[in-house]
Amino acid sequence: MNYRIALDGPSGAGKSTIAKRLSAELGFVYVDTGAMYRTVGLYCLQNNVDIEDEAAVAAVLGNISIELKYIDGEQRILLNGTDVSKEIRMNEVSMAASKTSAYKAVRAFLLDAQRNVAKTQSVIMDGRDIGTVVLPDAEIKIFIVGDATVRAKRRHKELLEKGQNISLQEVLEDIITRDHNDTNRAEAPLRQAKDAVLLDTTYKNFDEAYEAVLEIVKSKME
Ligand code: DC
Repeated sequence: MNYRIALDGPSGAGKSTIAKRLSAELGFVYVDTGAMYRTVGLYCLQNNVDIEDEAAVAAVLGNISIELKYIDGEQRILLNGTDVSKEIRMNEVSMAASKTSAYKAVRAFLLDAQRNVAKTQSVIMDGRDIGTVVLPDAEIKIFIVGDATVRAKRRHKELLEKGQNISLQEVLEDIITRDHNDTNRAEAPLRQAKDAVLLDTTYKNFDEAYEAVLEIVKSKME
């Protein structure tokens, strides 16, 4: 049988690091849906599409082709044939993704692609609306949260490691703005699904958070 594990929550809660390790342990495919939204945001930035203009963003979706490839177990993302896995991690792309992901046409554009990957294989999918909208029948749903300051510190460390020069204050402000956008939009807002298990990673280091997720997954798979 194909298993579907939905991991949702705000930015910096540890979803993607946990999902990557879990996918290696279970042999499931990891689908990072945030990367797909980031790719749409990147396309808009690269092509001077006004991200505040919903109709303008909707009008260019037909020019965008997104492909997920798995190389040595890592998800790579291609925008019109070019690998943009690195570019989509830039901080300005986070904000563009948060803005454009609120648009109905953008969500509809990515929904089928996300559901299709889960049709034929076991997946761990992370995002904001996986347990509520993309895979409402997922066998396992976990909603991962954490204090905004702690999440900002984690994200800041990651960005510095990637060579991006940004202050902690700026990262914190971005996280607060993105939390607000993602939670308050009309389309598929960030919400805990009724049947999701809540996990708070504020006082957990990575290993502890991972072990907690693994325990939830194992107990549900038994
Ligand atoms: O997980 P992330 O930080 O890479 O996601 C980037 C943005 O994409 C996030 O601010 C909101 C949006 N997103 C979404 O709306 N739905 C998802 N399933 C995943 C991400």
